[in-house]
Amino acid sequence: MRILVVGSGAREHALCWAISASPLCAKLFCAPGNAGIAAVAECVPVAAMDLDGIVALATREKIDFAVIGPEDPLAAGIVDRLAAAGIKAFGPSAAAARLEGSKGFLKDFCARHSVPTAAYARFTDRDKAVAHVRAKGAPIVVKTDGLAAGKGVTVASSVEEAVKAVDEAMLGGKFGRSGAELVIEEFLDGVEASFFVLCDGKNALPFGNAQDHKRVGDGDTGPNTGGMGAYSPAPVFDAAIEKQVMDEIVRPTLAGMAAEGAPFKGVLFVGLMIGAKGPRLVEFNVRFGDPECQTILPRLKSDLLPALIASADGALDRFDLRWSADTTMCVVMAAEGYPGEPKKGTEIRGLDAAAKVPGVAIFHAATKADGGRILANGGRVLGIVGRGADARAAREAAYAAVAKIDWPGGFCRSDIGWQVVGRK
Ligand code: AMP
Ligand code: GLY
Repeated sequence: MRILVVGSGAREHALCWAISASPLCAKLFCAPGNAGIAAVAECVPVAAMDLDGIVALATREKIDFAVIGPEDPLAAGIVDRLAAAGIKAFGPSAAAARLEGSKGFLKDFCARHSVPTAAYARFTDRDKAVAHVRAKGAPIVVKTDGLAAGKGVTVASSVEEAVKAVDEAMLGGKFGRSGAELVIEEFLDGVEASFFVLCDGKNALPFGNAQDHKRVGDGDTGPNTGGMGAYSPAPVFDAAIEKQVMDEIVRPTLAGMAAEGAPFKGVLFVGLMIGAKGPRLVEFNVRFGDPECQTILPRLKSDLLPALIASADGALDRFDLRWSADTTMCVVMAAEGYPGEPKKGTEIRGLDAAAKVPGVAIFHAATKADGGRILANGGRVLGIVGRGADARAAREAAYAAVAKIDWPGGFCRSDIGWQVVGRK
């Protein structure tokens, strides 16, 4: 088969790495890809949000199956556009992608279908939003309605911080149109975990779990990021919790989306807070997590490609996947400045030596080739994944590889996995 992966991050590198190993894959393209992805796929310089360009590329290259990595093209309807051109794709329609694309839609949907989540209110008026914050008090959570690259959420520990977040979004235009409407919700206490479920519109197949590290700094300090590291599996997410989440959150969501005329296909990323009252939904994403995907795919023993095709075909009821019992841990290396303005163009050396560390896979998130040199080309730049019989071994492998990377312009957290192995 001729396959196209859309996107350019470490998640897409991990997807290309797994798909290129499938006996079903005869030719693999990635649009636009990056310097690391170029080792396993033919990269074509078409941006993920250039929907016309992606459809033209898929048509020209006679693509049999497209796999969409990021949320923005999904929300913009890339799967619908490809379907109209006769090309099958992995991922939800635009209507189903609203589970991630609009926090307001998600919260109202949860209310309609009794999915357990934080209490909330929606606002388009700044003064009403501020009055609500003052009435509820802190801690409280302020979210932009629309997509904001994982940065539109403020978990405010004081009323002043929450009011500032409201003003930045609604008056300061910090998130553009995404910030014109806000969801303000109850603070949930507990341990976070990410759970992935392949869906085909009707059937749901668990696809691993992981724990992400959202804050930029050691000790979970500093601003939120897209994710600075992850490990899989997350011991907090045991079999009993998985069953509860499937019964109380995933199945009602699939049934609700189907009943509302927008059956969900693709991967449902269930962001959970596991606290005293059991697991509650923090958010859905409609694509694989990044960096969670980089920890999950290396643990999958089965061929990934047929499972993704079964999701698109509505045939997941016949599927059973095999997983390794190993633990994987991903340490993200980011360019100085991230999650603000990252410095671009600094040279990264030592990648070959790092890749030789036993049990290590290196996924590029934002790199560019310049002759023989590899340059940083974004915020999160590399995902270094270590694998081992337990979390400690996985962490040792990942940081042994990090130590081989010579990149003065980059940084990483030194405490990924602290929940399972302590802070060193
Ligand atoms: P989201 O984009 O909705 O996943 O939010 C980003 C991060 O903010 C989450 O991963 C949580 O760490 C945190 N967060 C979001 N909503 C809540 C909530 N209601 N209570 C506590 N933390 C939250
Ligand atoms: N790591 C969180 C996300 O992909 O949104």
